[in-house]
Order: sequence, then C-alpha cells, then structure tokens
Amino acid sequence: MTSILESLAGSGPLLRNAVQNRNFKVLASMLGPAFRGLVQQRGRNEASTPLRLDYSAQFDWRYRRSEPEMARLYEAAKASQWNATADLDWSASVDPESAEHPLIPDAIIPLVHHPAFVRLTPREKGRQRRGLMAWMLSQFLHGEQGALFAAAQVTEAVPWLDAKLFGSTQVVDEGRHVETFHTYLTQKLEKLYEINDNLYVVIDALMTDGRWDLKFLGMQIMIEGLALGAFGFLRSHTSEPLLKQMLTFVITDEARHVHYGVLALQKFYATQVSEKERREREDWAFEVAYLLRNRFLAHEYYEEHWAHALSRAEWDRIVLQSEMMAIFRRTMFKRIVPNLKRIGLLSDRVRSRYEDIGLLEFEHCRAAPDLTAQDLLEDR
Ligand SMILES: [Fe+2]
Ligand SMILES: [Fe+2]
Repeated sequence: MTSILESLAGSGPLLRNAVQNRNFKVLASMLGPAFRGLVQQRGRNEASTPLRLDYSAQFDWRYRRSEPEMARLYEAAKASQWNATADLDWSASVDPESAEHPLIPDAIIPLVHHPAFVRLTPREKGRQRRGLMAWMLSQFLHGEQGALFAAAQVTEAVPWLDAKLFGSTQVVDEGRHVETFHTYLTQKLEKLYEINDNLYVVIDALMTDGRWDLKFLGMQIMIEGLALGAFGFLRSHTSEPLLKQMLTFVITDEARHVHYGVLALQKFYATQVSEKERREREDWAFEVAYLLRNRFLAHEYYEEHWAHALSRAEWDRIVLQSEMMAIFRRTMFKRIVPNLKRIGLLSDRVRSRYEDIGLLEFEHCRAAPDLTAQDLLEDR
C-alpha cells in the first residue's frame, strides 16, 4: 500500500501539470491507464493482463503504393532480417557478475559515490551490476512486448498500403526482440523484473486509445525513440560481448521503426488533423515524455537491493542527481525531441514546458530520417 501511495504521490506533478495546462482531454485519456497502472498495478503479480481494445481496422482495396519512402524502408527491412536463434552465439558463456567484462561500468550505477556502495566487496558490486542490468533489460523486454502488439494494431489501422507492408516487417522484428531479450534475461542473467508502473501506464494508454496516430506517437516516436537511445548507450558502455552483439542487431531494426513513425506522422499531422487536434497530440506527447522521464528511477531494483538501507525519497534524490540519470536522459531524449519537432508537435506553445523539465536542449539534434543505422550504433 505504501508503495502505491508513493507511486501516486510521484505522479502528482504529472496530474498537476496536466490540470494547470488545461490538458483536460489528455488527463481524461490518461486517467484509465493511470488508475490501472498506478493504483491497481495490473501489470504486476499476475501471469497475464487482459486489455479491452477499441479501434477500427482499415482494408485498402485499391492497393495504391503512394508512399515511396516507406516502400524503401520495407525493402530494407526485408533485406535485413536476422534469426535470433542462429545469428547470435548463445553457446557463449556469460558471467553476469564478472569484473573483467562488466555488464556496465560502476561509474553509471547511481549509488557509485555513496558510502553504502563504496563499502561493498568486489563480489557484491558484481551482484549490483547484474541486478541493475536485469532491471533495465526487463523493462526493454516488456516494452518490446508492447511494441509487438502496437505494431500489429497499427498495421491494421493505418490507412496507407505501404505503411501496412512495412508494419508487417515490424511485427516480425518485435517478435524477434521479445525472443532475444527474454532468452538473454532467463538464460544468461537468470533474473527477470516485473514491469515498471510508469511504463505500464504509457503502454496501456497507447494500446487502449482508439486513434491510430496516438499508437504511433506513443510507441514509434516516444517509447522506441527512448529505447533506441538507451540501447545505443548500453551498447557503447557494456564489455559483455553477447549483449553488445545483440544490441547491434536490435538497434538496426529500431532505427527503421522510428524512421517509419516519423514519416507516417509528419504526413498525417501536416495534412489531416485540425489545429485543435494537433494541439491535443502535442499535449499528450508532453505528458508521455514526463512519464518516461520518471520511468528511470528503478524502484523495483531499489526495493530488492537498497530498501533496507535508504528511504525511497533518498534513493530518488540520488538517482535524479546521478551521472547515470544525466547521461541517460541525454541519450534518450535526443532520440525523441528532434522527432517531435519534425512531426510538428513542438510549437512555441509547448517549448517552455520542455525547457522547464530540461528537455528542450535536444531540439536541434538530428531527426530519425537524417540518421543512419551506423550513426545510431555509434551514438552520434
Ligand atoms: Fe523492438
Ligand atoms: Fe521497434
């Protein structure tokens, strides 16, 4: 119960902000998901969670190939398929607590300078690295399952044939990502965490919303953009060879997905929504950015490893001020904010809100259509 109240208190600023900005429509569309995620905690303690969906699928009987850039992405996707079982070396032995090939450097553990961490033995530090990485990769796994469903929904609902064809490849890609992360977590790290409440709220919100473009906005632009940043960051910092190889494959797929999301929404928002509807999307994207920013407090990892030693408020303060948080925020939001600008959802009306939460500085970074997979692999 205490943690439910703390989760709600932690989302106070989100709700307050939505009210202050008169984002009542956004608030209304988020209340159901927030109630299910933060109060009922429906993503937790259950073997599965049923969600009732309501959206329209669209058949296209003309089969017009009207979107050449999406068609190019579809061709690239078909030529870039890989097989998670055969193309990754699962026979490689992974020591998740190795000091020689650490999963992540200690420098990015939030508590690195805290006396309680400094006092740990090298072996205990190894256990901390394994726990934190298992927490992060578990959130990626849950996000990938959301992406698999969202890709399937969007394939049905999007109006253009080229988008449906590309969507069919994304469904396969996301299935492979679920397989890859799940195998690594269960066979190599031997640890799986439940979904974080904030991530659950975002996934629930975009799955249950009937408007296809919000599914695109939530998944292709926000969650996948953030995942792309996080994958690039982890890939360049991990010394574990199998994880590095696996992230290289996944990043190459995700680069196409985000690019596709930008193409679809840039066209749709420029030509097919009213100014009032555009503003509503802009507000929705901001609230989601706010939720995702809070996702990285790693409370599930804290509960298991540090709840005996630190209060949750103290933990939050350390994480928010840590180098890890600063680097993470930077790499993730530089993959989101330029794309929001490109699709027309960063008008002067909302810039100051992004500035207030420290995210506006990324607006001049390159958007997805201007980045190659190599740029993303090298975290450029
Ligand atoms: Fe994915
Ligand atoms: Fe994806």
